Amino acid sequence: MMYSHNPVLLNEVIEFLNCKEGGVYVDCTLGLGGHAQEILKKIGSSGKLVGIDCDEDAINLAKKKLVRYKDNIIYVRDNFYNLRKIIKEKKITKVDGILFDFGVSSFQIENSERGFSFKRKGYLDMRMDKRVPFIAKDIVNNFTRKQIETIIYRYGEEKYASLIAKNIVKTRQNEQIVTTEQLVNVIKQAIPYKFYSKIHLATKTFQALRIEVNKELENIEQGLSQAVEFLKKGGRIAAISFHSLEDRIVKNKFREFSGVCSCPEEIPVCVCGRKKILNILTKKPILPTKKEIQINPRARSAKLRVAEKN
Ligand SMILES: C[S@@+](CC[C@H](N)C(=O)[O-])C[C@H]1O[C@@H](n2cnc3c(N)ncnc32)[C@H](O)[C@@H]1O
Repeated sequence: MMYSHNPVLLNEVIEFLNCKEGGVYVDCTLGLGGHAQEILKKIGSSGKLVGIDCDEDAINLAKKKLVRYKDNIIYVRDNFYNLRKIIKEKKITKVDGILFDFGVSSFQIENSERGFSFKRKGYLDMRMDKRVPFIAKDIVNNFTRKQIETIIYRYGEEKYASLIAKNIVKTRQNEQIVTTEQLVNVIKQAIPYKFYSKIHLATKTFQALRIEVNKELENIEQGLSQAVEFLKKGGRIAAISFHSLEDRIVKNKFREFSGVCSCPEEIPVCVCGRKKILNILTKKPILPTKKEIQINPRARSAKLRVAEKN
């Protein structure tokens, strides 16, 4: 199956990554290889790109798309949580640029069997990496009401988390909740009609479960920290986020590595010892243009932040 795919903020990413002929780059979220393809064009036949994705389907689809660049790309099916290990295993010492484009890819959302979409009937799976033994169905059927509420509130920023968790626990007393459709109905029943809003009622709960299943925020925190170790002087790190929880981590990590002191104001002398490893190149995040959002509505919530190694 061929999937339609528009890489988000493509021109901006390529411009900011400053891809050089013969350069070494890492795409930590290869997906369908949209950004990777442009990077490969820029680095030419003497360049190298390490393309990482934890999803086997992504690696296979990207391999097909990028077949003409096969001598310049190293595919790695792994989690970017393991970036340090991956780079060492590939015997790479320093890289010119690293890209993160967080979240799920269009092909994952469009495949109903994966359970990511509240608009499609499917099994409540939500794993990006099918080797992970734990799926969304396990959360809704086995976790305590308090645990479910905390996940939905923390990772979905859903104000009706308590009502939704209560209805999940009530419903599962009679039947297991195993499909996306069942879960959407449980969420709809939980929220009083007068509070229905423009965004789909299940948006935040689905986001929360996906984040918990894939440990997305922990991965971002780790991936960004490790990425900095391998950048050459002048090398760049670019990160695209799609919601405030992701963006907050990127912003704070960049601040931490740019040496912004984290000591409480009442302490007269800095003790946090932060060093200026990165220069932040985007004081404000780069947003997609209206035109891009028209062509690709998925881009509407994207934010790109870029920093350069000192
Ligand atoms: C938004 S898509 C990337 C799209 C890609 N930039 C393109 O142009 O096709 C995110 C991809 O990153 C992968 N991914 C998300 N988190 C990951 C992680 N922690 N480690 C490895 N891959 C991850 C997903 O499986 C998905 O394929």
